[in-house]
Amino acid sequence: MKPGAIAVLTSGGDAPGMNAAVRAVVRAAAREGRETLGFHRGFSGLMDGDAMPLGPRQVANVVQRGGSILDTSRDKRFHTPEGRRRGIDALRAHGCSALVVVGGEGSQHGAAALQAEWEGAVVGVPSTIDNDLGGTDNSIGFDTACNTALEAIDRIRDTANALDRLFFVEVMGRNRGFIALDVAIGGGAEAVLVPEEPLDVRQLVRLIRGNYERGKISCIVVVAEGAHPGGARGMVQEIEDQRGALGLNDAGAGARVTILGHIQRGGNPTVRDRVLASRLGWAAAIAAMDGRGGAIYGIRGSDVRATPIADAIREPKEIDRELLHLVNVLA
Ligand code: F6P
Repeated sequence: MKPGAIAVLTSGGDAPGMNAAVRAVVRAAAREGRETLGFHRGFSGLMDGDAMPLGPRQVANVVQRGGSILDTSRDKRFHTPEGRRRGIDALRAHGCSALVVVGGEGSQHGAAALQAEWEGAVVGVPSTIDNDLGGTDNSIGFDTACNTALEAIDRIRDTANALDRLFFVEVMGRNRGFIALDVAIGGGAEAVLVPEEPLDVRQLVRLIRGNYERGKISCIVVVAEGAHPGGARGMVQEIEDQRGALGLNDAGAGARVTILGHIQRGGNPTVRDRVLASRLGWAAAIAAMDGRGGAIYGIRGSDVRATPIADAIREPKEIDRELLHLVNVLA
């Protein structure tokens, strides 16, 4: 009997490097003479049976591209047994024996639920700029997003210095502060706000004051979007509202806010993300061809390691609190 096709999809927030992962899956499978099928628009396309054959030539010239050539989606229908039944029907109808899910935490929840209900192998590849998924030190897209944010912060530093200003720069990260922490250190920020260790307005103003007292003329506060209600804007508004009570003249007054937003999700992946995506996509494809499902392939140190998807999504991934301390020490 002919071995089944290897299906692949990208799901959730796109991340630079997703295409490199898809390319690796397709080419690893082709090398073993296995067919690959790409489902469009993540789990939405899976439920709709929207697939196309992918050969080595269909993934030419994509290793350097951001976004996803397969498109992606966030589709709550896949949280329901009925949604997953439709997905399983499509996988069976297309003769698939395995599915590789390239995506972040929400997508891997979908992958775990599917694995419990489908006889084929479901294999995860961690891909989210937020880097908040377990089972891997770094997820695909994180490095690129950090570098994009860092370039913006370097530019902001120029103008902040020239005009002696205080800037609040909001980066992505609803639940976790991985991007915020790395770019705060890399950009020499004076303070960082992360969802894991929220600061109240008084603590923050004290920190900012301390920087000015040490002779600084500009100040950059990096804020993860989920670190404060209303993000960076919310924090600045609170500072303005409480100026009198906080005894503020300069620190916090006239602060500028820059929200980097979706700029961080696009663009060409860095070399680190391309290599990471290629290695993880390749490992996932081998597992998929061998029928070894239920695991996510991530990077641990310099090694590719498999972790049960259920474990990778169970515990929220923790930031390194020493890095938080480092921001303050180095400021
Ligand atoms: O993909 C992760 C992420 O970029 C988060 O950092 C952010 O909070 C969210 O997605 C934004 O989602 P959307 O593009 O659906 O607004």
